[in-house]
Amino acid sequence: MKDILVLADGEAVSRAAADLVQRACRAAVEARGVFSVALAGGSTPRGLYSLLATDPAFRDSIPWDRVEFFWGDERHVPPDHRDSNYRMAHEAMLSRVPVRPERVHRVPSEQPDPAVAASLYEAELRRTLGDDRGVPRLDLILLGLGPDGHTASLFPGTQALSERRRVYAANRVDSLATDRITATFPLLNAARQVVFVVAGAEKAPAVRSILAPDPDTPVLPARLVRPEGGTLHWVLDRAAAGQLTGDGVRAGGE
Ligand code: 6PG
Repeated sequence: MKDILVLADGEAVSRAAADLVQRACRAAVEARGVFSVALAGGSTPRGLYSLLATDPAFRDSIPWDRVEFFWGDERHVPPDHRDSNYRMAHEAMLSRVPVRPERVHRVPSEQPDPAVAASLYEAELRRTLGDDRGVPRLDLILLGLGPDGHTASLFPGTQALSERRRVYAANRVDSLATDRITATFPLLNAARQVVFVVAGAEKAPAVRSILAPDPDTPVLPARLVRPEGGTLHWVLDRAAAGQLTGDGVRAGGE
């Protein structure tokens, strides 16, 4: 199932995404006693994380000690580096709410070899979710979208796009001259829910290519995120949705 929600601006996008996180968390804790979530990196989610940690409607209703935190991807930098996705989420949210430290599973991105980091991280995910053979099923995965249609660190033309066995992989991104550690499509598409949080006019062409492609539109990485037994949410601001027609699109509250 796919749900496309368009909101007025970035603040409304954060609030709508926070609502989805809160609902998914409470449903998971009620059903299984724990909520497993993979956080998105980049800059867009910072507002969402800050809202979850500071707005009493979310801060006081989320059972923070029941949440297992993972990341959808990480840069190959130490956790205190300014580019670290862990550092961003820690500053915006995790340092401000009563999480259980042993349930904050950051990618060991200080590992010199990103492939070792990815392998260690996959093992930690499997150990935590108790799924050492199949594809682990996270309750919710938050994702962003790059203007080139990448998501997590699954960039166009990169090796990890074709990974079908591992759920985390090292990925060389030549366009950025950097290495990343990223969730792969098997993990993304096994999730109970996937929520794309996207804002800004610079994302509009990629959003259109993914949500309203022409027959000959090249398949961008984010278009391959289709959680088979789960729900796919796109939470967009008007600017990012600027090239979509009204078909199948819900307008969020003003
Ligand atoms: C990362 C993210 C990446 C991000 C997009 C959008 O590590 O950078 O995982 O996929 O979500 O690049 O980034 P912005 O939110 O900064 O536009």
